[in-house]
Amino acid sequence: MASKILIFNVVFLTSFFLPLLVPNSYSSQIIVSAATDFTDNDLIEFALNLEYLEAEFFLIGSSGYGLGVVSPDLAQGGPSPIGGTLAQLDPLTKDIIYQFGLQEVGHLRAIKSKVKGFPRPLLNISKEVFGTIMNNAFGRPLNPPFDPYANSINYLLATYVIPYVGLTGYVGATPMLQNIVSKQLVAGLLGVESGQDAVTRALLYNLKDKIVTPYAVTVAEFTNRISMLRNRLGNAGLKDEGLVVPREQGADGKVTGNILSADNNSLSYARTPEEILRIIYGNGSERNPGGFYPAGAEGRIAQSYLSP
Ligand SMILES: *[C@@H]1O[C@H](CO)[C@@H](O)[C@H](O)[C@H]1NC(C)=O
Ligand SMILES: *[C@@H]1O[C@H](CO)[C@@H](O)[C@H](O)[C@H]1NC(C)=O
Ligand SMILES: *[C@@H]1O[C@H](CO)[C@@H](O)[C@H](O)[C@H]1NC(C)=O
Repeated sequence: MASKILIFNVVFLTSFFLPLLVPNSYSSQIIVSAATDFTDNDLIEFALNLEYLEAEFFLIGSSGYGLGVVSPDLAQGGPSPIGGTLAQLDPLTKDIIYQFGLQEVGHLRAIKSKVKGFPRPLLNISKEVFGTIMNNAFGRPLNPPFDPYANSINYLLATYVIPYVGLTGYVGATPMLQNIVSKQLVAGLLGVESGQDAVTRALLYNLKDKIVTPYAVTVAEFTNRISMLRNRLGNAGLKDEGLVVPREQGADGKVTGNILSADNNSLSYARTPEEILRIIYGNGSERNPGGFYPAGAEGRIAQSYLSP
C-alpha cells in the first residue's frame, strides 16, 4: 500500500513538472523509470548478483579457479558455484577473460565497500545451463548440446550472454539513484561492464560469418538468437540486438553491421530489475528462480518477488 502511494505521488509530481522541462515525447519514458521505491542500497545490492556470476564464470573459465581461491573474503562463505570448469581457450581469449574475471573482483570489492551486501549466492554455471539457454534461443535442442567451455568461440558466445545484461541493468538503475556516491559507483561499474560487452562483441564481430561447428549456424546468427531470446524473456520490447540486424536497427538506420547494441539514437537500452531477473532466471518470470540462480538472486529487490 505504502509503495502504491509513493508511486502515485512520483507519477503525479513528475507528470506535473516534467512537461515544463522536457519535450512531450520523452516524458512518459522518464516517468516509468522514476516510478519505483527502490533505494540506492537495494539497487546496488541487486547488482552484486550479476557481479558474482561474472566473477565466477570468467575466473573459472580462464584459470580453473574461482573466488574461493582468488579472493575468498569476497565469497563470504557462500556456496561454491555448480559446474564451472577451465575452458579450452586460445591464449588471447584466455588473457582477456582472465582480465574480465579480475575486473569483477574489483567490482565486488567496490560494491561491498559501499553496501552491506550478502555472501555469494548459489550459482549454476554448468554447461547444461548454457546448453538450455542456447536451446531456448534456437527453439530446438542443439545436437550435440552447446558446451561453453569447449573452445574459444563457444566461450565468447557464452560471454555474450552475460555482461550485456549487467550493462542494461546499470543504465536502468542510474535514473533511480538518489545519492551522488551511488551514481559515481554505478557510472564506474557501467563503464567497465559496457567495455567488456564491447570487447566480446568486437572479437565475435571479427568471426561473424564463421560457422559454429557442428551446428551449421554462423556466429552472427547465434548472437541474434541470444538477443531475441533476451528480448522475449525480458518482455519489454526491443532492448537487445545481435551483431547483424535489419538496417532500421543499425546505427542511424543506415547499416546492418551492429558492433554495439543500442537504440535509434545509439543510446544504450535500459532494463529494470524485474526484466533482468526474467532473463537471468531463464524463464521469463521474476518469481521463478532457475537458470544461473537455482535458489534465486539475493537482496531486497530479488527477494521481494520470492516471498510466499
Ligand atoms: C544446474 O543446471 C542444470 C541445467 O538446468 C540442471 O540440470 C541442474 O540440476 C542444476 N543444478 C542445480 C544444483 O540446481
Ligand atoms: C526506431 O526506428 C525504426 C525504423 O525507423 C522504427 O520502426 C522504430 O519504431 C524506432 N524505434 C523507436 C524506439 O523509436
Ligand atoms: C517457464 O516455466 C514453465 C513451467 O515450467 C514453462 O511452462 C514455460 O514454458 C517456461 N517459460 C520459458 C520462457 O521458458
